[in-house]
Amino acid sequence: MSIDPEFARDVREGLLRTPRELPPRYFYDALGSQLFEAICRLPWYRVTRGEQLLLERHGAAMLDGLAGSAAAPLGVAELGCGSGQKLATLLRAASAPVGGVTLIDISAAALAMATDHLSQLGPWPVHTQEASYDEGLARLATSRPVSDGPLLVLFLGSNIGNFHPSEGRALLGRIRRTLRPGDALLLGTDLVKPERNLLLAYDDPLQVTAAFNRNLLRRIDEELGGTFELDGFSHRAIWNAAESRVEMHLVSLRRQRVTVAACGLDLTFEAGETIWTESSYKYDPAAVVADGLAAGFGTGTGAGVDAAPGGVRQWIEPDSAFALTRFLVTP
Ligand SMILES: C[S@@+](CC[C@H](N)C(=O)[O-])C[C@H]1O[C@@H](n2cnc3c(N)ncnc32)[C@H](O)[C@@H]1O
Repeated sequence: MSIDPEFARDVREGLLRTPRELPPRYFYDALGSQLFEAICRLPWYRVTRGEQLLLERHGAAMLDGLAGSAAAPLGVAELGCGSGQKLATLLRAASAPVGGVTLIDISAAALAMATDHLSQLGPWPVHTQEASYDEGLARLATSRPVSDGPLLVLFLGSNIGNFHPSEGRALLGRIRRTLRPGDALLLGTDLVKPERNLLLAYDDPLQVTAAFNRNLLRRIDEELGGTFELDGFSHRAIWNAAESRVEMHLVSLRRQRVTVAACGLDLTFEAGETIWTESSYKYDPAAVVADGLAAGFGTGTGAGVDAAPGGVRQWIEPDSAFALTRFLVTP
């Protein structure tokens, strides 16, 4: 297998930091994407079910006013699409024709699953981009799924929660600047909820999330010539209330030496030393609306019972405490 220089650079930089860190985007190799699909089926991980329910119940309302015309129909693009199941649910609710779909994900395995799903569903062309969010946005700016129709960008699954809030707001700004009047963003965000529910979601009794977390070490061993012993690290999830985030860490169970050939690393981990692998920020619904407005979405006053300021619409699933928020780009 050839070495991905960006992966090698990020692993080197992250493991030399104090505390040690690894970026969550590297969870998603072929096995990681399958493990994430298994997490979505766990009864304790309610993000997927909550968001699916909202899309099933309110999909038509979410597409309201975005139909385009017969000559220039709606185009849809999803950032970090995973299996594409949620996009498929939304497209089933579309009463007007959809002219094309663009799937953007860094995982080739996720793109293969999503393409399979969406191609079976309708006649629209499905384009894929194996790319980061920013690379995908840059390509969308010049090559939209439908060149003249409105564009709906989906950013679901609380993917935005992996970013520090200031970085998340900056990313919302970059999404906004990629769009033009008549376009929209549908943003999924997981909300603050009782600590017990949050911890069960990220440290499940079947230990699927633990396997997902440790798979990152297996990936480093396989792709970068690492010598991590998987039974030398345990999975830990904590709720950091002050920062409003669930953190996932890998904890060294003993003093151990690890080398990573492709990164030129020769490290000693002390017993109890951690590698911080993921943050999942949890939101307040009003703050999500405020962030979108600050990024330049929406103007004027809201319309309709569920309209928040700026014409923004928000749907909340109370059992899972998950929100979908639609931001329009107005002239
Ligand atoms: C938590 S999963 C969510 C998948 C899907 N959106 C859902 O709601 O079920 C995150 C997805 O985003 C992709 N991803 C993570 N970081 C990414 C990045 N920086 N750029 C592009 N895709 C990314 C992963 O490969 C994975 O498929």
